Amino acid sequence: MDLKTSYMGIELKNPIVVAASSISSIVDRIEMAEKAGAGALIIRSLFEEQIQLDALRLDEALAVGSERFAESLSYFPELKHGDASEHLKWIEKSREAVSMPLIASLNAASPGGWSKYARQLEDTGVNGLELNVYAVPTDPKRTAPEIEQELYEIIDSVVSEVEIPVSVKLSPFYTSLPNVASELAKHKVAALVLFNRFLQPDIDPLSEDLHSEMVLSTPSEIKLPLRWIALLYGRVDSDLVLNTGVHSGLDVAKAILAGATAVQSASALLSNGIPYLSTMLREFENWMQEHGYESLEDFRGKLSQKESDDPFTFERAQYIKLLSSQK
Ligand SMILES: Cc1cc2nc3c(=O)[nH]c(=O)nc-3n(C[C@H](O)[C@H](O)[C@H](O)COP(=O)(O)O)c2cc1C
Repeated sequence: MDLKTSYMGIELKNPIVVAASSISSIVDRIEMAEKAGAGALIIRSLFEEQIQLDALRLDEALAVGSERFAESLSYFPELKHGDASEHLKWIEKSREAVSMPLIASLNAASPGGWSKYARQLEDTGVNGLELNVYAVPTDPKRTAPEIEQELYEIIDSVVSEVEIPVSVKLSPFYTSLPNVASELAKHKVAALVLFNRFLQPDIDPLSEDLHSEMVLSTPSEIKLPLRWIALLYGRVDSDLVLNTGVHSGLDVAKAILAGATAVQSASALLSNGIPYLSTMLREFENWMQEHGYESLEDFRGKLSQKESDDPFTFERAQYIKLLSSQK
């Protein structure tokens, strides 16, 4: 059976990619992921805000209410006072340890930062670059086109600077996601990773305090990216990569049926241990065998909106039908 897939032009031996997470903070874990059969691994993000922490002063940043900043801290606490060279050396060390494709991830904060760090990341020998473009729009005066334009400018500044393929990890919160997705493809984005999953701060009503904790995803969270992959398949010129809620080999099958090129998974590996990736892989292979498929091309996009016999399932018509059938 052939599990190969092409992920933004990089050939992967199978479609299970380890998502950017704490799995890539220890070389042993990266090696373990390779041993378990990972198709590729995304290295945790380089957060520009993190490396500028000395200059930023934490209290000032919090005073302007930047959720993005607080989120970066929780993702990447150990590099509090480090700089980019520490992260870059880390990637070089990881590069030497494994031979599977490695993809760097970047979340910059300034327009010049995106291209500058992208080039530095490319120089570490990674096979591709994932842009983690998450920002929470908090200014009521900023319009959706302004925010989208800024996104395209960031992409242009990066793709003109590096030669490795670039993917963008998007949030689901765009007014017209299909339009943004197809524009990104025109701006030479080789893959769209759908979706990033964010920490949502909670409120403790007893202490009247805010608190953020890292809650891992559940399998039901796959439905949001699954639907969007199914809607976008065949309509945009970038690879579609499903991220969030991939917890089993059957989830991998669902993603490919919807039209994904590959999946990314973090929570399942963090909760079950990294060797669990081989269980996912086996389950996926067994499913392919039982369904008589020899390669991913045999069924990719089979249940996308474009290819499905019931294209309205992904749209509102089904929603209305379901609501009206509830007693
Ligand atoms: C501990 C942890 C650290 C993470 N660090 C990053 C990161 O550095 N960059 C990034 O883009 N996403 C990061 N993520 C998000 C994951 O890459 C992924 O998008 C998210 O967990 C949803 O996928 P899942 O359902 O398979 O967990 C992190 C997630 C976890 C749980």
